[in-house]
Amino acid sequence: ELRGVVALDGPSGTGKSTVARKLAAALSASYLDTGAMYRAVTLAVLRAGVPVADADAVAEVAAASLPEMGSDPRDPAVSMAGEDVALEIRGPEVTGAVSAVSAVARVRELLVAEQRRIIADALASPGGVVVEGRDIGTVVARDAGLKVYLTASAQARARRRSDQDVAAGRLADLERTHADVQRRDAFDSGRAVSPLRMAEDAVELDTTDLDVAGVLDRLLGLAEARG
Ligand code: C5P
Repeated sequence: ELRGVVALDGPSGTGKSTVARKLAAALSASYLDTGAMYRAVTLAVLRAGVPVADADAVAEVAAASLPEMGSDPRDPAVSMAGEDVALEIRGPEVTGAVSAVSAVARVRELLVAEQRRIIADALASPGGVVVEGRDIGTVVARDAGLKVYLTASAQARARRRSDQDVAAGRLADLERTHADVQRRDAFDSGRAVSPLRMAEDAVELDTTDLDVAGVLDRLLGLAEARG
């Protein structure tokens, strides 16, 4: 029974995280950022010094380092073995390696199982759960009550990503960010295991010309229409 799940999928830089958190807060729902889980596992892989191309070794590290995820949309905590890694998982090293790690089938199996467990837990209390990622509507929660697929032009997505970097005090290079966004999306869309694609029953929402309030407004309208 996954009616209480809102699945938000789409490529990077569509404003997904920002609106997912605001939507969860507005609905008094809990929040799960599945991208943060892939990022945390990637951090563990990098720290272990394991080459990302060694799928077996990567899967072994993943199995031993599942992150603990907070569910509060106003403070989405991410930790591993008690260490707060929320900041470090947004850095360039992790961003550069996360697509390769998340393409490993065994890593996805482990994290999808963990995500389903977290979702089941969240649904035990009222308010539902907003889950954001790449494969929530197609794999993790196929019976979600509402599925939205966010898109935006490549240019708008690169700009948002570099704005985020600047806001977080990281150096931003628009050209590099643009190339990185495109590389990551191509990789995420082209991988063999659960590639990034829109679920047949998802609503597509193009955010290119919308600000955060505009996107949130549409999402709240959709959530209300689905009851
Ligand atoms: O959303 P975010 O940019 O933090 O996700 C980082 C990466 O994690 C994505 O580029 C993708 O490779 C991977 N990911 C995934 N499946 C998800 C969420 C994220 O493969 N459900």
